[in-house]
Amino acid sequence: MEISSMRQSFPELAMDYDRTAELKAFDKTKAGVKGLTDAGLKHIPKIFVRPPEELAEELNCPRSNLRVPVIDLAGIDIADRRKETVEEVKVAAEKWGFFQVVNHEIPLKVMDGMIHGLRLFNEGDQEVKKELYTRDRRRKVRFNCNHDLYKSQTANWRDTLTISMLASDSFDPEILPVSCRETTTEYARHVMKLGDALFDLLSEALGLKPDHLRAMECAKGCTLVCHYYPPCPEPELTLGASTHSDPSFLTVLLQDQIGALQVIHEDQWVDVEPIPGGLVVNIADLLQILSNDKFKSIQHRVVAKRAGPRISVACFFSGHLTVPPKPYGPIKELLSEESPPVYREITLDEYVGRFFAGGLEEKNKLDCFKTRKVADASF
Ligand code: OGA
Ligand code: NI
Repeated sequence: MEISSMRQSFPELAMDYDRTAELKAFDKTKAGVKGLTDAGLKHIPKIFVRPPEELAEELNCPRSNLRVPVIDLAGIDIADRRKETVEEVKVAAEKWGFFQVVNHEIPLKVMDGMIHGLRLFNEGDQEVKKELYTRDRRRKVRFNCNHDLYKSQTANWRDTLTISMLASDSFDPEILPVSCRETTTEYARHVMKLGDALFDLLSEALGLKPDHLRAMECAKGCTLVCHYYPPCPEPELTLGASTHSDPSFLTVLLQDQIGALQVIHEDQWVDVEPIPGGLVVNIADLLQILSNDKFKSIQHRVVAKRAGPRISVACFFSGHLTVPPKPYGPIKELLSEESPPVYREITLDEYVGRFFAGGLEEKNKLDCFKTRKVADASF
């Protein structure tokens, strides 16, 4: 569709409107996108509509039929099998930044339970959700629609329950909504264990001792970011999550069977098709820094769909804040004359501060941490 004809079909795209006022009015409902779909609306509000240039570009966007690598974690304690798995992890982390894992030892029942609990929370008592509605990051359990609602160019079609530091000793499960308290606690226990196993494999894939990344406390501190993507009446006009890379060392994503996650590979969008019982793993920004660009933190997004709701849970392994703050930079053992440090040392505080200062879709976030500033800014 030409932009001009798109403007005819969607005259609101061409009109000026008071975006901030609309954002505030929507935010004040504290009911999120689910509140809109419950009201049965046929057209999505303007705040969710992507700019015409972006919609036009989308039509020319190449798609790929390639598949994200699937890695079977069965038998990783048997020496030969482990060697093969480490090699598969290495190739996936270098070439894709994304892979799926199966036979990861998290029971299907625990995964299904986690998703079911979130469904109960999102579709349950409005008052419980409103009580938790905030963007205050000091709150360990918070519910909102778009953490970057006032910073992004276009709002995303999703609501999110965020649970920080669930695995720390000081976390009191009583602060979790009762609808998903037990299921979330159980899933968190399992996913932390899987995180340890993945960091060991990733350390070995970098040619380091298995406990290297864990000794750096990368596996400490996990945040569960639980998304609820309601069915969208005009999916071609918006996104479930804008293109971004993740603000952590590593992310493990549990998704239901609907599918909508896409990753960039060789300049094309690739669908991450759900595998029953599978989990998606991706290298995130901080591990790209530690690995001195050997491993890639790849841009990804979630498209909007008529089908739904879609539920997913991103477990961000993002380290924990210490006093004094720990510096993180390229791992010394990976540096040489041919491979000088691409990044300077940074603290988690500095990184997280930058992430929340902008909208989710901010590109080339890592450039400002580079030892030498680069001019090219590709995606
Ligand atoms: C994220 C994310 C993907 C999904 O939370 O960072 O990319 O499928 N989620 O919900
Ligand atoms: Ni992400």
